[in-house]
Amino acid sequence: MKFFIDSADIQEIREAHSLGLIDGVTTNPSLIAKTGRGFGEVVGEICSLVAGPVSLETVSRDAAGMAREGEGLVRYGKNVVVKVPMTTEGLKAVRLLGERGIKTNVTLCFSPVQALLAAKAGAAYISPFVGRLDDVSQSGMDVIGQIVKIYANYKFTTEVLVASIRNPIHVLTAALMGAHVATMPFAVIKQLAQHPLTDIGVERFLKDWEKVPNKF
Ligand code: G3P
Repeated sequence: MKFFIDSADIQEIREAHSLGLIDGVTTNPSLIAKTGRGFGEVVGEICSLVAGPVSLETVSRDAAGMAREGEGLVRYGKNVVVKVPMTTEGLKAVRLLGERGIKTNVTLCFSPVQALLAAKAGAAYISPFVGRLDDVSQSGMDVIGQIVKIYANYKFTTEVLVASIRNPIHVLTAALMGAHVATMPFAVIKQLAQHPLTDIGVERFLKDWEKVPNKF
């Protein structure tokens, strides 16, 4: 399973990257705005730091505009994947960009049939937002399970990129379901490594080690 970091904060990305666990990055306009920095500056730094896929989002409402923006975005790096929204215009943009050899990530997906359309259009990734579904009392992870099943039924190569992850249970369930990628905030990546019994165990071993005579 691949891990992406869902962030535009270069410090966070650098730290996560140093853990050796990060296969790629996803960004969106909200994450870029949160940095308070210019788009080109932030994205340039991310693309030079991370070799894996970096998703950058378009902001046009029409397919032609998305395709035009996408062609500009890929100039930031060979690893750029163009994010387009799960709208009919977004689907058209997937085709247009695909014809130009540009990979796409269809974002703001909230249903299995939307994911089916994105795969048929030829998207490289589909991004279902599990946390936002949970927020409106619909199980985000049930949607992931259905998408994984549909893609397996028809051997689609589109990768299921679980997004809007809020906690380690989302990651665990995504892994059990066979989703290809989990993109998550740095806080969740750090949570994945933690367990209170690990901390207690480390403390106990170190305390007992003090009692050992003639160390090394
Ligand atoms: O990048 C898309 C997605 O992961 C956003 O998550 O927490 O804003 O719902 P969130």
